[in-house]
Amino acid sequence: MKQIDIISGFSKMNKLEKLEYLSGLSDDPATVIQMLKSYWHQDFKTQKLFDEFSENTITNFYFPFSVAPNFVINGKNYIIPMVIEESSVVAAAANSAKFWSDKGGFKANVVNIEKTGQVHFIWKGDKHKLFDNFSELNRQMMEATSAMTANMRQRGGGILKIELVDMSDKIEDYFQLKATFDTRDSMGANFINSCLEEFASVLKKFLQETPVFTGTEKDCQVIMAILSNYTPECLVKVSVECEIEKFGTMADILDPHEFVWKFQKAVEISKVDVYRATTHNKGIYNGIDSVALATGNDFRAIEAAGHAFAARNGHYSGLSEVEIKGDVFTYSLTVPIALGTVGGLTSLHPLARFSLELLGNPGAEELMMIAASVGLANNFSALRSLTTKGIQVGHMKMHLLNILNSFSSTEKEKRKAVEFFKTHKVSYKAVSDFLSSIRISDVKPVNLEA
Ligand code: MEV
Repeated sequence: MKQIDIISGFSKMNKLEKLEYLSGLSDDPATVIQMLKSYWHQDFKTQKLFDEFSENTITNFYFPFSVAPNFVINGKNYIIPMVIEESSVVAAAANSAKFWSDKGGFKANVVNIEKTGQVHFIWKGDKHKLFDNFSELNRQMMEATSAMTANMRQRGGGILKIELVDMSDKIEDYFQLKATFDTRDSMGANFINSCLEEFASVLKKFLQETPVFTGTEKDCQVIMAILSNYTPECLVKVSVECEIEKFGTMADILDPHEFVWKFQKAVEISKVDVYRATTHNKGIYNGIDSVALATGNDFRAIEAAGHAFAARNGHYSGLSEVEIKGDVFTYSLTVPIALGTVGGLTSLHPLARFSLELLGNPGAEELMMIAASVGLANNFSALRSLTTKGIQVGHMKMHLLNILNSFSSTEKEKRKAVEFFKTHKVSYKAVSDFLSSIRISDVKPVNLEA
């Protein structure tokens, strides 16, 4: 790559100009252009749709769209769409789903669906006056937003509550308007943010025009108006349960009681050690994120909420809980997941639309239960492997095709390797040695494994 200069007007270039500019930085512009174009959708209208999801789009970045069958959630069977690049995640979810399918499946319920937004402002005045006059301010904010909330209210949602919060003990003169919303089946980010911006202008006007406020009390500095991605009141719980004996011998190694003992210790460790807790929760989000992505939802918002929730007691810990009562093993996950099934990309992206169809066009609450079940499934699978045969056997088996591809293996070589590694341990070196042994000439890998 050549030296990169600061440029202005890049976003104003058309797509071809951008491509030419970028490819001009490489030593082989024609090949770069051809490669980037090869990922364009053949249908112009579809490509335009993808281009318009973002800014400065030059091509599409493919991720695998997979499905995990055999999920039984609240007695209903599902095939779950998952978008994820990590090779073993879908297999882990599907294994877990099958395992629990004849043991009652996943039982899930939505605890609550409230979302929160805040107007953060600095105000130098007599706070008692502000609190004393808040009910009138509240009335004016509700009135000012009534047109924009009409549709949502018709669907059974809307603004649930607006509170005035005194934060001046944390930052001098700092207050909040803290509002809760029910956005029904939509993620509701735009709805919430529009309401909040309206609250902010009503607040400013109210302070200016209400005679009880005098002097500097007439002014306030609105710092920002924005929804919170912390959604502890948009909560779903999912669990699986079975008699301990039903585990049988795990991975040909552990009897059911030994397995449950180790499993319980693994969960305990996730409660006390942040290094382990982070990885434990990452395994949960392997499942949740891939469903969020497949259905066109904002996985960053969902993860941010989950990690904040995991630290709600002032210490970050694993999100799942294990309980042994008599001879019954129960494993559960309670987690905030703010998902939508209408609006945003959910209906615009053809594959997100297909995902929702595959799931039977669920509402947001059903999708929350589905995503949480996949999160628990992935976490159960991870702990089952970790506490028995270790993670690498299965992981490397799934990764084998990636390693073979990095050596530009032919289909014939791949078939031979897959057969060979059914009974041999997969490692990068072992695959390299195996390929050398079946190839006449040496092959250079395209991309070495990280
Ligand atoms: C890998 O993507 C996820 C795991 O590391 C999760 C865990 O350790 O629990 C396997």
